[in-house]
Amino acid sequence: MSEGILLAKVARGTLLPEPERVARLREALPQIEAALAGETDQVALQATLACLLWEALPQANWCGFYRRVGERLLAVGPYQGGMGCLRIPFEKGVCGACARTGLTQLVPDVHAFPGHIACDGATRSELVIPVTVDGQLVAVLDLDSPHLDGFSETEARILEGLLAGSFCSTAAR
Ligand code: SME
Repeated sequence: MSEGILLAKVARGTLLPEPERVARLREALPQIEAALAGETDQVALQATLACLLWEALPQANWCGFYRRVGERLLAVGPYQGGMGCLRIPFEKGVCGACARTGLTQLVPDVHAFPGHIACDGATRSELVIPVTVDGQLVAVLDLDSPHLDGFSETEARILEGLLAGSFCSTAAR
């Protein structure tokens, strides 16, 4: 087993100040990219990202993927955290909104988001980012936090960049 990534230990559930969270994510980024280099298998990529982002984002209580398994249906993929819902239609929840629109959903207070799916009643904020390959939605990255405002715009942009670089077209490899 590899050592994973090297980051300062932070207790699960800790919401660091935003600049510290961004610095931690930026420190993790090259290590995550190195761990994924050359990998093209979708499950290997998703499982490793779920594992390493869990380390990089201590404010998260859930970190993982929902995969597109139908025209308008997501099913749970590799994740860390408590048990998630198994299937999410595009019409439901924050993940569904992301899949439907193809746009990142940054939700500082899930109670203010109509139709939010409460898999874990402790969740207060959420960040969901689309994963596309060759312009097609293949999955979404779902991050939940028990803190209000647990994720920032800067974290969202960094993670969008990481996903864009990690899930390239297989044809381009
Ligand atoms: N809260 C999500 C559902 C997925 S779980 O929380 C893991 C949503 O509304 O899409």
